[in-house]
Amino acid sequence: MTLTKVHIFATAIALAILLLGVTYASLNLVKPDPPAYCGGVVGISTESKYEYYEEHPGFSIFNNNCTSCHDMHRTVIAPPLKDIFYRRDPAWIRAAIINLEAIKSGSDNYVITTENKYSNIPHPAHNFSHEKLDTLMDYIKLFSPVTEEKGEHIFQENCSVCHAVHRITVGPALKYVYKNRDSIWVNNAILNFNAMVQEGDPTAVRIYEQFGRIQHPTHRFNKLELSCIKKYLESMERPQASD
Ligand code: HEC
Ligand code: HEC
Repeated sequence: MTLTKVHIFATAIALAILLLGVTYASLNLVKPDPPAYCGGVVGISTESKYEYYEEHPGFSIFNNNCTSCHDMHRTVIAPPLKDIFYRRDPAWIRAAIINLEAIKSGSDNYVITTENKYSNIPHPAHNFSHEKLDTLMDYIKLFSPVTEEKGEHIFQENCSVCHAVHRITVGPALKYVYKNRDSIWVNNAILNFNAMVQEGDPTAVRIYEQFGRIQHPTHRFNKLELSCIKKYLESMERPQASD
């Protein structure tokens, strides 16, 4: 090889390494996936006014501050934040974003909500304005959508031993319960039916007598979970094959 040939060869190798490096770096940028369920590939929760999650103003806040450690759907360095609104109170999530270390060292007795263990790197504190935090919270909430499927799951796990949708079993059929009664009344009934009986709510007392004075179990659902139950039961109001 002449000296020029060696030069050209060396330059070509250097360029190839550079190109590989750039490709690798761009592949490595973590981009959050669209939510796996809820109305199509790019669709987000049906309650949202945005058609694409990238349109949400919280998208860039999340990308700039969280994606180095968090993905919505899979574990990166930190737990996925999909469905976090089912696992934690909104007030807790806000506090965690601002200063999770304070929660971990405080009286909360912090336990990670997913099964995996995470590295012991300290969680960064964030000094967001109220508006910025609201926007970010609203964005993260897109990944905890209210769905019929979730409602059905909750129903099967917690209600189906005593309730069927279409027929009376131990308790009343729940198909038209949101049509026949006020949503707040139904939510209260789910959370603590006995308290309503004790307070003398006439409808609650009548059903209680009718169904043989069974003590209704209490439940600790958050608003999202209650909305899922509602969405599921309302979806059953549509004509079904089993009708
Ligand atoms: C340097 C990495 C890192 C960054 C950046 C980061 N987090 Fe975290 N986050 C973690 C780790 C690790 C955990 C798991 C708990 C722990 O070990 O501290 C966690 C836990 C959380 C939790 C609690 C999850 C649960 O299930 O208990 C929330 C909520 C959270 N992070 C939100 C955010 C948000 C929102 C941002 C961006 C504003 C962010 N984090 C930025 C690393 C990070
Ligand atoms: C241990 C049995 C049992 C379980 C579990 C149970 N229920 Fe009930 N439920 C009843 C009975 C029985 C009644 C009738 C009132 C009474 O006797 O307490 C009732 C009444 C109700 C009512 C009022 C119905 C109406 O016509 O207004 C609602 C709403 C309701 N249940 C929802 C639920 C939901 C949702 C779940 C699950 C999250 C659930 N219940 C779990 C037994 C149960």
